[in-house]
Amino acid sequence: MCGIVGYISKKENPNTLKLGLEALKRLEYRGYDSAGFAFWDRNKKEIVCQKAVGRIINLEKKVNNNYTSVFANPLILHTRWATHGGVTEDNAHPHFDCQKNIYLVHNGIIENYTELKKELLKEGHQFSSDTDTEVVVHLIEKFFQGNLEEAVRKALSRLKGTYGLVIMSKKDPNKIVAAKLGSPLLLGLGEDEFLIASDPAAVIAHTKKVIYLDDGEIAIITPDNFSILKEKQPEEIEWELEETQRGGYPHFMLKEIMEEPGAIENAIRGRLVEEEGVVKLGSLDSMTERLRKMNRLVLVACGTAGYATQVGRYMLEEYAGIPAEVDSGSEFRCRKSILSKDTAVIFVSQSGETADTLASLKEVKKKGNLTIGITNVVGSTQARETDVGFYTYSGPEIAVASTKAFIGQLTSLALLTVYLGRQREMSLIIGKRIISELKKLPDLAREILKQTPQIKEITKKYKDFQNFWFIGRKYNYPIALEGALKLKEISYLHAEGVGGGELKHGPIALIDENFPTVALCPSDSVYEKMFSNIQEIKARKGPVVVIATQGNEEIKKIADDVIYIPKTLEMLTPILAIIPLHLFAYYMATLLGCDVDKPRNLAKSVTVE
Ligand code: AGP
Repeated sequence: MCGIVGYISKKENPNTLKLGLEALKRLEYRGYDSAGFAFWDRNKKEIVCQKAVGRIINLEKKVNNNYTSVFANPLILHTRWATHGGVTEDNAHPHFDCQKNIYLVHNGIIENYTELKKELLKEGHQFSSDTDTEVVVHLIEKFFQGNLEEAVRKALSRLKGTYGLVIMSKKDPNKIVAAKLGSPLLLGLGEDEFLIASDPAAVIAHTKKVIYLDDGEIAIITPDNFSILKEKQPEEIEWELEETQRGGYPHFMLKEIMEEPGAIENAIRGRLVEEEGVVKLGSLDSMTERLRKMNRLVLVACGTAGYATQVGRYMLEEYAGIPAEVDSGSEFRCRKSILSKDTAVIFVSQSGETADTLASLKEVKKKGNLTIGITNVVGSTQARETDVGFYTYSGPEIAVASTKAFIGQLTSLALLTVYLGRQREMSLIIGKRIISELKKLPDLAREILKQTPQIKEITKKYKDFQNFWFIGRKYNYPIALEGALKLKEISYLHAEGVGGGELKHGPIALIDENFPTVALCPSDSVYEKMFSNIQEIKARKGPVVVIATQGNEEIKKIADDVIYIPKTLEMLTPILAIIPLHLFAYYMATLLGCDVDKPRNLAKSVTVE
């Protein structure tokens, strides 16, 4: 969940700290409770360490340009999302040993830290934080005999849990040591400089050539060279620097909503063969025979990606004719899963680093079932660990609340449906029909975005309400859940999603004139049922905002407000219906003065359990 940066260079660059802080800011979306850095000051022959509670800006204010002429090299930095220990300066990283010789930053969780701490305390080590991380630095201190990597190696053998670690020492100052197990870490190879980071966003301003560390690897980086336990080829980051910047928008979230039509285009580009009604999906072609035999699918993901899989389940069952079920990563990993040999498990994740999803993947791999990954981040753990898979290509998503990546996931699941469906009973006509509708989607999404000012006005009318229902059925039931999640994540209002049919089994008790509902009611196979649900709410004086299909005038008679979306195939409606809900959540949060891109208590990638 945290962001890590390390820097070491041959260049005599006095702006290193500024450079490091800039790189760290690109990771702030991963955690923003507190931040800190440590660097080797060659002239004073000491390690300088500073920390501050809150955003990176607080750290910058504290530093107050103090080190502009100092050659901070090597340098390690961290932005924290608290797990063990409250949000205090002491708990912020870097952590250090008793003698203040060794400093490290960590992402992940050390599960056996209580017993290690007991042992280290007995041996006389003094702790200055409540974190799990601090045991690592004391263990390194315990094993240090002049060579940092040797001490790190010994310390790692005592750890249980997950880590991305970047370490430096005053006693071996000309190097950085990095280690990875279960938390992402990559090495950027710049010109006469190396960066180590938990996320490509931190390094692309300097280089696009990176090496992703694998679990269990240790990297030793000096100003001239680096070595990793095994020989590895560099890969290219496919993102552009501009994509990780706000580009004139007040928030990343708004920029990313505006990129939603592009996310659909990116997902379908080069993959549709309309005349044959088929879809090409990269590495899946290497497993066609095995995929053909699959008679059951399980889709595993968390949060927003989980709601995408719920839509995907409906698509796959209806159009590919394969029984499918859905589970959240956090549940799947804990329960006994009965997977027959012809069951494939599909993992969906924007980051490809979500701990619960990855733990589920690990479990499935142990059982030997075919694993399929749908991921946005190229080179992420999920992308590398699944047997086959394909990318959503939504581009970097920086706002904590997922928007365009969700659209990319829904589109990708529609592609997978055609891919698997055409291997089975799906006819040429249906394959062609879905493909032709998919091609129209980016323009239809643009039409919705043209209504942004009207959606903003509608949102204003609801800004004083404290509670919201979101209702939908069938394909748009998961969209109701996602609409509610988005609103609560960034505006902190109470919002719940519920199936339209479930309303009268309990939730309707809450409806009155102070409890508005956002109803997904496109003209599809469940339109009449949704229409009745809206009437039931109106009969109890509940205000209703309806997402309806263009041309539906009837709905205006019962709705307080209507947002129209264009007509498309029923299975693709969710890809359009979610767009106004993204805007609704965004404007609600801005009207309430919330920090849209970095909502409280959340982080972009949930890399801990
Ligand atoms: C989305 O708005 C959330 N912040 C969150 O639910 C997210 O979708 C979830 O943590 C899964 O992330 P992933 O797609 O990177 O695996």
